[in-house]
Amino acid sequence: MQFKIIQPDDWHLHVRNGKALKSVISMTAKQMGRAIIMPNLNPPITNAKDACAYREEILTALPNDSTFKPLMVLYLTNNTTPKDIQEAIDNDVIAAKLYPAGATTNSDSGVTNIKNIYHTLETMQTLNMPLLIHGEVTDPKIDIFDREAVFIDQILTQIVHDFPELKIVFEHITTQNAVDFVRESSNKIAATITPQHLLNNRNDMLVGGIKPHFYCLPILKRAKHQTALITAATSANPKFFLGTDSAPHAKHDKESACGCAGVFSAPHAIELYAQAFDQAQAMDKLEAFASKFGADFYDLPRNTTTLTLEKHPWTVPDEYKFGNSVIVPFMAGKTLNWTSNTTLSPPS
Ligand code: DOR
Ligand code: ZN
Repeated sequence: MQFKIIQPDDWHLHVRNGKALKSVISMTAKQMGRAIIMPNLNPPITNAKDACAYREEILTALPNDSTFKPLMVLYLTNNTTPKDIQEAIDNDVIAAKLYPAGATTNSDSGVTNIKNIYHTLETMQTLNMPLLIHGEVTDPKIDIFDREAVFIDQILTQIVHDFPELKIVFEHITTQNAVDFVRESSNKIAATITPQHLLNNRNDMLVGGIKPHFYCLPILKRAKHQTALITAATSANPKFFLGTDSAPHAKHDKESACGCAGVFSAPHAIELYAQAFDQAQAMDKLEAFASKFGADFYDLPRNTTTLTLEKHPWTVPDEYKFGNSVIVPFMAGKTLNWTSNTTLSPPS
């Protein structure tokens, strides 16, 4: 059985830099037309100049015949100014990302109090630059499984109230609370959903032994939240679209006494979403989620090439080369039911 869709885009992706970038970028480029590139490098991408240099590094790392387009993002700090936003826009940086300081990988330079960037958010609202949010509070007293829900109550509700015209993407949502919030908000508010949060819940990570390759942030939640995410993704609601949050870390950094957060799904991202949509008997909803709603939200044209999915079971490799090390892909050793034909063609 074959399934032809418009070529998808990844609206949330980590590709790192240097040798790691070279190992992973072609995996995304072979199936996605574009990807939003997360700016949490060390040091982070906090100005237009660094964003341009990073874009060049990515373009150089791509295969010569690739038409893949990286979409650059500015990392917000307490010191980001309205001028930084204007310069970013002038250099085709398409969004800015809010990491609450300490929330996740390389977020130490993030924002410590949302009020510190209110002037900057004002400018973003005026200039129609989307705000991308890692929506978790960092208060050590708040349970890790509650951090997204508390962020909605304490921070996001306030931002949406104070900046009603600001476009916001609530990134990698993981809870029923987030689904409800996005659904009930204005059409300025959208959300990305990862494959791991559609396919798994916290039992998959913790029952029968701890599985570090399921560990990411925001952390997998209980099954009722997984169900809410599947319902949202397959509901044909344009507020919910594809963003893998593929976040590569070397095998030894994941399989460690203090393992890094991140699921590496880039090599077979669309196959993972196909698996989830097929299980929900919603293959007919995949194209809009993967290839239409994200572009529409960002006011970008949809891709003009197509990608073909075929029902043909295959086994995910145990590992890939990653710089001088190796990396374990999501679902390593497991069978996926769909393969994608990476020869892209214009729509017929
Ligand atoms: O699991 C995650 N990994 N979540 C994030 O928010 C960041 C990412 C990374 O950069 O490794
Ligand atoms: Zn991310």
